Amino acid sequence: MEFEHTSVMPREVHDFQNLSPGDLCVDCTLGGSGHALETIRAILPGGTLIGIDQDNDAIANAKKILHPFKDNVRLFHNNFSDLPDILADNGITGVDSILLDLGFSLNQLTQSRRGFSFQKDEPLDMRMDIRNPLTAEEMVNTYTEKQLADIFFKYGEERFSRRAAKAIAIARAQAPIKTSGELATLVAGAIPSKVAAKQKIHPATRVFQALRIAVNRELERLEAFMEAVPGMLNKGGRISIISFHSLEDRIVKQRLRRFQDGCTCPKALPQCLCGFVQRMKVITRKPVIAGPEETAANPMARSAKLRVAERI
Ligand SMILES: C[S@@+](CC[C@H](N)C(=O)[O-])C[C@H]1O[C@@H](n2cnc3c(N)ncnc32)[C@H](O)[C@@H]1O
Repeated sequence: MEFEHTSVMPREVHDFQNLSPGDLCVDCTLGGSGHALETIRAILPGGTLIGIDQDNDAIANAKKILHPFKDNVRLFHNNFSDLPDILADNGITGVDSILLDLGFSLNQLTQSRRGFSFQKDEPLDMRMDIRNPLTAEEMVNTYTEKQLADIFFKYGEERFSRRAAKAIAIARAQAPIKTSGELATLVAGAIPSKVAAKQKIHPATRVFQALRIAVNRELERLEAFMEAVPGMLNKGGRISIISFHSLEDRIVKQRLRRFQDGCTCPKALPQCLCGFVQRMKVITRKPVIAGPEETAANPMARSAKLRVAERI
């Protein structure tokens, strides 16, 4: 598979990362390795980049792209929620920068043949890590109608979640749903045509997002990871996170705020008694978004939000 460089906000990420030669950095979501390339160039000589992706195709691509820097790069085919263990296993007590560029890559969408896109007719898989047992096909064909409706509502914020789940239940009673094309047609038929005509997005967009999030347990992994952030950074080290939808961004925003200002004492108390210790300082008061040139050239950048915080 030929990967494309699809890095979102490369200049903004680079500026906020504040890297120096010799730094120890982690790119938790290598994807096409565009950000990773920028990072390794900024920390040489002497620096080390730890690169992670749960998709083995991204790791194989990173091996090629980052080959010229191989003495300073270590790659791990893992979920980023494993990062505390990866660091501990390698005797690392803190790093200077961590980057997360969440969601899926353009390559996964257009070339993986795993059914991420409603515009293609591919096996309904949606696993970013094919070692995981649960596929979207199994979810769609074995979960109850209510479970599916709940997933579409919770992870896709789909108003017509029940109608979409019902259409699936009726169709699968005849024959199992096996491809992304079949699912997209079914879901599109379940959304009232007047509503679909007014929407700027394909009618199956939200259901596909919801299934992908559920199959890969994306929000649970992100939540687990966020809890560990302050313990993985050196003092002055920064975490930079790009998210692509409000569910992810909410988790990132709330956790970073809590590390900065998590005191639960009543405001009237003259001093803190809850034992809260501030461990992070939020650097981006508002999320940073891509500029007009980038969003014109790369539609995926339109929904991207970058948040950065520093360990104190
Ligand atoms: C938006 S792409 C990253 C693009 C990359 N920054 C670049 O410059 O090309 C997201 C990547 O993160 C990976 N990913 C998403 N969630 C992950 C997780 N929980 N653990 C490890 N990798 C993950 C996906 O497999 C995908 O390759």
